[in-house]
Amino acid sequence: MPEAILRLDDIHVHFPVKRNWRGKARAWAHALNGVDLAVRRGETLGVVGESGCGKTTLAQVLMGLQHPTHGQLRWNNDLGQPNVQIVFQDPQSSLDPRLPVWKIMTEPVYVKGKAQEPAMRALAARLAEQVGLSPDYLNRYPHEFSGGQRQRIAIARALASDPDVIVLDEPTSALDISVQAQIINLLFKLQREHQLTYILISHNVSVIRHMSNRIAVMYLGQIVELGDTANVLARQRHPYTRLLLDAVPVLGSVLPENAVQAIPELPGNRVLPGGCFFLDRCAFRTQGCEHRQLLKPIPEETPAHSVRCHRYDHDEPDEK
Ligand SMILES: Nc1ncnc2c1ncn2[C@@H]1O[C@H](COP(=O)(O)OP(=O)(O)O)[C@@H](O)[C@H]1O
Ligand code: SF4
Ligand SMILES: [Mg+2]
Repeated sequence: MPEAILRLDDIHVHFPVKRNWRGKARAWAHALNGVDLAVRRGETLGVVGESGCGKTTLAQVLMGLQHPTHGQLRWNNDLGQPNVQIVFQDPQSSLDPRLPVWKIMTEPVYVKGKAQEPAMRALAARLAEQVGLSPDYLNRYPHEFSGGQRQRIAIARALASDPDVIVLDEPTSALDISVQAQIINLLFKLQREHQLTYILISHNVSVIRHMSNRIAVMYLGQIVELGDTANVLARQRHPYTRLLLDAVPVLGSVLPENAVQAIPELPGNRVLPGGCFFLDRCAFRTQGCEHRQLLKPIPEETPAHSVRCHRYDHDEPDEK
């Protein structure tokens, strides 16, 4: 099994949402509530879950942009601290409209000064070639490109600093279907050429299925199921995963933000339930569910498949 490049140990992130007159926090949004995860070198780890379940906060922790309230981010000492970059969903808003493309692409490594400009332009030309853009376009501005081309520019920028890990936050969901496939193929090619590790956040189950080696399913700031893509899709073990994937009637359909049919509103997570976080919505609940559940491997399954539910082997809910 490939070595872990990054590890999250019991990561919690709580945001203050109400303060008293002295500025002391009175209420907290619990964005992450104990995330344990080892990211393996060279893999694509797909992260799925409804809007508000903590995907973006997880990405920010991985990027070092968000300091955990509790828990630790660690990396493999032999490999050193990995360089983590991100590609956002919407290239329109993530690219500075006032900068020419060569400056956008080289931004993570940009060194100011006239003397540096030729080196920066040469780097941009190499990056453009890698992502399939003509080097003739490098003096143009973002609005002069199509959505797919803008996403190529964003990918080039993520590559500029020679990263180990790239977080892809809904990388294709703002694009036309025909363009989505081209961007996915580009991501595959770059992964092979640069031995990249991807963390792919997506609502699109077919994108996840197509691209990921493993899937992590998130609910209320926790991973509730984690395993090889084929296993998780063939036999979902957590009741939430079943609901989430059942809500996607055919392969290729997109799970819309906030609009999963048959799933009621995500409960406000300002006050966390004492037991299993899924208790209120679970048709399988029974005695023992009022205790907090841990993400544990299923003993009889290899490759490892972990689930945060003690009833993972029940196919039907109990008779009422
Ligand atoms: N800066 C913030 N301040 C307060 N609450 C936040 C902040 N960022 C995220 N949250 C809350 O944390 C939860 C997780 O958010 P987020 O990580 O953006 O989820 P996702 O990306 O899965 O939609 C949500 O309930 C959200 O409202
Ligand atoms: S622990 Fe109980 S309530 Fe939670 S998902 Fe499993 S069966 Fe449902
Ligand atoms: Mg998000």
